[in-house]
Amino acid sequence: MKHWQIDEVAWDRFDPSKVDPDTIPIMKAAAMVERNGTDYAAYLKGVFSDDPDFCQAADTWAGEEVQHGDALGKWATLADPAWDYPAAFARYKAGYRIDTEADASIRGSRTGELIARCMVETGTSSYYTAVAEATEEPVLQQICRQIAADEYRHFKLFYDHMRRYLARENLSFLQRLRIAAGRVTETEDDELAFAFHCANDAPGVGYDHERCLAAYLGKAFGYYRQHHIGRGMGMIFKAVGLPPRGRLSDLSTRLAWQYVQRRQRRFAERSTPAGHFAEAA
Ligand SMILES: [Fe+2]
Ligand SMILES: [Fe+2]
Repeated sequence: MKHWQIDEVAWDRFDPSKVDPDTIPIMKAAAMVERNGTDYAAYLKGVFSDDPDFCQAADTWAGEEVQHGDALGKWATLADPAWDYPAAFARYKAGYRIDTEADASIRGSRTGELIARCMVETGTSSYYTAVAEATEEPVLQQICRQIAADEYRHFKLFYDHMRRYLARENLSFLQRLRIAAGRVTETEDDELAFAFHCANDAPGVGYDHERCLAAYLGKAFGYYRQHHIGRGMGMIFKAVGLPPRGRLSDLSTRLAWQYVQRRQRRFAERSTPAGHFAEAA
């Protein structure tokens, strides 16, 4: 049972005058990644094939992720009625393949898989919170708040299963830390950049990873404020087995905040608002 339904969103409150045009391509891209939850659930069910409780939870989780995609897709279509959400998603699904036939985690263990899931949910939960606080458009605010609440529940879901597997698989702190850090750095891989391409580039335009990544993260990182990074850092610390609050967490937050600001500036410099490289780049 989902915690909210797409029909319950107050779509009639959509206010085009409050839409930041630079937000539209970013939400279109986010819709691609969210909508792809079903394929990821198929992968997870292969990895956890003898764990019926987890497989059931993965299906429920995927239903919620798909709803995130559809809600963002619907919002983006209101903001840009010419956009073809189903066609954009079909491109993404055809070009970004998840191994739905796998029978073991690409993270080397089930605990590792669940730690990686915790990192993704940490990222999405803090990201949609940041977007909800940054946007003035009431419908996007409402959607992002609902999505952020789901993402936080997803974190707790994967965290609880992770603790169960950790008791069996006994991954060391360093192994957990390595997996967590590895998943965070994957933010700059193809999943988001290719989503930006499929959601925004005209059919004849080729995929350029650097251009699309700069366009996406140059805008997306700009939504964050330090308190979002602090909250996310607490969740990361919890997932790897460190105390979520304290001096180490505070120090890591400050460093991560500086890093996000630096990356945001660098990406934004390389990208015009429309997502095309500036002449000088
Ligand atoms: Fe989501
Ligand atoms: Fe999620």
